[in-house]
Amino acid sequence: MKKTINVTQSSIPTYKEYCKEIKELWKTHWLTNMGVKHKQFQKELEKFCKVPHIVLYTNGHLALESIITAMNLKKGGEIITTPFTFVSTTHAIVRTGFKPVFCDINDNDYTIDVTKIEKLITKKTVAIVPVHVYGNICNIEEINKIAKKYKLKVIYDAAHTFGETYKGISPANFGDASIFSFHATKVFNTIEGGAICFSDDKFVQILNDMKNFGFRDSENVAYIGGNAKMSEFQAAMGICNLRHIKQEIQKRKKVFEYYKKKLSDIKGIKLCNEQKNVKHNYGYFPVVFDNYKYRRDEIFEKLKKQNVIARKYFYPLISDFECYKNASTIKKHKTPVAKYISERILTLPIYSNLSIKDVDRICDIILK
Ligand SMILES: Cc1ncc(COP(=O)(O)O)c(C=O)c1O
Repeated sequence: MKKTINVTQSSIPTYKEYCKEIKELWKTHWLTNMGVKHKQFQKELEKFCKVPHIVLYTNGHLALESIITAMNLKKGGEIITTPFTFVSTTHAIVRTGFKPVFCDINDNDYTIDVTKIEKLITKKTVAIVPVHVYGNICNIEEINKIAKKYKLKVIYDAAHTFGETYKGISPANFGDASIFSFHATKVFNTIEGGAICFSDDKFVQILNDMKNFGFRDSENVAYIGGNAKMSEFQAAMGICNLRHIKQEIQKRKKVFEYYKKKLSDIKGIKLCNEQKNVKHNYGYFPVVFDNYKYRRDEIFEKLKKQNVIARKYFYPLISDFECYKNASTIKKHKTPVAKYISERILTLPIYSNLSIKDVDRICDIILK
């Protein structure tokens, strides 16, 4: 049997480099609670993204929950988002006491269809949480305009975008705030990890308190916070991986381009359109099988039989998950494009060490 190719493989520094980075922790015995690695990593990230503030979190999900809470939006309000994303986006909205309203996506880059947002705005709407899916940047200019017109907050789920730029600017700088995920499966990882990025100074203290049980100082609890601190070991992994992010993206680009060469111009196979002005991080390789000789599910099974693990990402739609199907916690609208794409899309394995030979093997299974 041929070796297994997983949909992704976490990028890690050399063992030696990581050990060197964590060595001083054996001297200080300071393992978490905003130690030296945490401080260093935060500063390096702010510089890398050219964003005024970054608050580190233990994962992207809690980062999203915290920033939604910190916005001080009218409780029970409606938040416009899409059902074509990782389930975390919707969970974060519901778990913080808001009602997701699902807007459809566009079939170019699978981000929120900005022409359909205004119709969904009601008196109860308080915010928009768009998602830069697969690292495809939403139409931020149009979203800005709508948000301004209706006085809505915009929090971007930028979980997929680390290392990218749009018109030379990191997605950390868009909307009222953006969150990154540094999960092991992302282009850039801190094992588990996440961050909130923003420019308004007022959020610095709140978000730092919220991730540490609400402690302002040892005798003063200002918020009913949780525990979402990034540990020193996570931060150390981030410091190491940040040194190699440019090469990481460069290597992924080669894999991405080879896939494109093999799968372009084939009847029934639709690749994601490249976006203008975007420097991509090549985190995903989504393919839509639309009237191809095999259906998406058949391709998925054929690959699996040959030990190639692709992912039906994102299927099913969030609105079809058991916990939301009949729930009053969400406001459902028809999202035909999202449904269509979700039933046909497959993300193929992509990571920096994926060899050209392996891409050939994957494409042969799909094409033959
Ligand atoms: C779009 C999206 N939002 C949020 C998250 C949550 O991030 P994390 O896994 O770091 O909690 C993820 C990641 O896995 C994601 O893909």
